[in-house]
This record gives sequence, structure tokens and C-alpha cells, in this order.
Amino acid sequence: MKNILKKAVIPVAGWGTRLLPATKSQPKEMLPIVDKPAVQYVVEEAINSGIEDILFVTGRGKRAIEDYFDYAIELEKELEEKGKTDLLQVVRGISEMVKFFYVRQKIAKGLGDAVFHAKDFVNNEPFGVLLADDIIDSQTPCLKQMEEVFERYHSPVIAVMEVPESETYLYGIVSGERIEHNTYRVNDLVEKPDPAYAPSNLAIVGRYILDSKIFNALQNTLPGKGGEIQLTDAIRDLLQEEEVYAYIFEGNRFDVGEKEGFLKANIAFALKRKDLGEEIKKYIKEITETLD
Ligand code: G1P
Repeated sequence: MKNILKKAVIPVAGWGTRLLPATKSQPKEMLPIVDKPAVQYVVEEAINSGIEDILFVTGRGKRAIEDYFDYAIELEKELEEKGKTDLLQVVRGISEMVKFFYVRQKIAKGLGDAVFHAKDFVNNEPFGVLLADDIIDSQTPCLKQMEEVFERYHSPVIAVMEVPESETYLYGIVSGERIEHNTYRVNDLVEKPDPAYAPSNLAIVGRYILDSKIFNALQNTLPGKGGEIQLTDAIRDLLQEEEVYAYIFEGNRFDVGEKEGFLKANIAFALKRKDLGEEIKKYIKEITETLD
């Protein structure tokens, strides 16, 4: 399959209030899931989906992300001198994964505004948007699954999952006509509706494939939910111009931007590790037994 999606945007300007106080003086995206910062899982998903250029939309207090994906000259020298070649390879490999670009969102005006900052970077090509709060554990990377839908319909694709009706107020919600087992043609989108007003229970997860038409829509999008420029609202405007598809992805999604999802992700990824899995499983069994 020819890879037509080469660019991805990862907005990382958000505050991380749901993980305070841990995020008071460090980016939430740098908190570790086992031994890698959360954002690295998302970067790896992008790379494993064929992405070659990644733009981070950053903000104040997010310099640690830039440093992480840069060379760490002193550290590398130290590891080299001490003959710790395995670690040296890990550390250097991180800065050579892919081409990284950065732009700063000076005022946090919402996800739509963050994506608007990618206009010059995108330069009329289709592009992926990956929200760093959503880590998706799947056999085929989620973005890759979506690329197949994009190639079939040549239109924007949003990842969705079914949620309990009582939880619609936490997500952008889409409704549409089912055209394939896992795919819908979207006819409406609402950002975080109360359950009484939700058009369905199909919730947007932080993965999008968009094209440059979104920038015109964003330019005209007024502040919506929470007084912010919402990407959901801009995609809704886009429906007047082109079709948009929603795809129920295969995989497990963790919202690592809040405590429960963050802890669950740590447990799930630790259990999958060859060097940790058995021990952690044994430990969970032990402590849960003492709780009963
Ligand atoms: C954002 C989007 C929302 C989407 C969610 C997925 O909201 O605005 O439509 O459902 O990501 O994680 P946030 O959770 O960043 O407020």
C-alpha cells in the first residue's frame, strides 16, 4: 500500500489539570507509562503508521518535550565513556526516530486553535492529528487502520468508540449512517453534549486524518464549548463541503490525561513486558487477595 500520509500533528499545549499536582512543573506528556514518557507511545504509533514528519504544537512549560526528542550530548558522552552501549542506543535512538518540528501556541484557545497552528507545516497535504492523552494499544496502529479508510473514501476520518450514554459529556460525539461494519458516514458532530442532547454514543477518540480544508473551517469557527475553538465544531462545518467518516478502531484506548486511565495504562503495559509482566501479575494477585 502506498503511504500517502506523511505528516502528523501532536498538540501538547494543554495544562494537565486532571493530573495535578504531578503536572505542576512538568508536562503531563512526559509522565512515564512504565519507563517511557506517555508522548512516546503516540509518536511510535505515528511512526509505525508511516509518518515521517511530526509537528508538536507546544506551549509554555513544555520544553522538556523538545529536550527529550533532541540529542542529549553530555549524557551520551557519559554513557559512551562508561561503555553502556545498550542505554546509549536507546537514548540516541529517541532523537533519531523521525523529523520533529515545533510551533508554540501562545494562548491556550482550544484544540481547534492548536491544529490551526499546523497550517504552514501541512501545506495542502492530508495529515494525522494524534492527541497525546489517548494511548491506543492495538495490533495494527490506530492511525494505520484509519489510513485504510482514508484511502478508500479520500475524505477525513475520525476515530470513534462506543461509550455508555451517561459519558457523552466527556467527548465529542458523532452520528452518522453506517456504511461498513466499522465505518460511518458522519452527519453530525457535537462537542461534549449532555446525554439528553447527544446524537449517539459514538465518541471521538484523539485520532483524526484531515486535509487542508479544515483550516478554512477553523478560521471561521467561533469559540464553542468551554469558550474554546473546538476542532469538533470545525469538522462539523466541513460537512457542508465534503464527506467525513467515523471509524470504530480496533484496540484498547487509555485516557492517560486522568488518574484512572494513567494507572490502568501503567498496569496494562507493565503486564505485557517480558522483563516485568510475571512479577507484576504475581504482585497484583497478592495484594488483591489481601483486600478481599
Ligand atoms: C478532545 C476533543 C474531544 C474528544 C477527546 C478525545 O477533548 O475535543 O472531542 O472526544 O479529545 O480524547 P479533551 O478530552 O482534550 O477535552
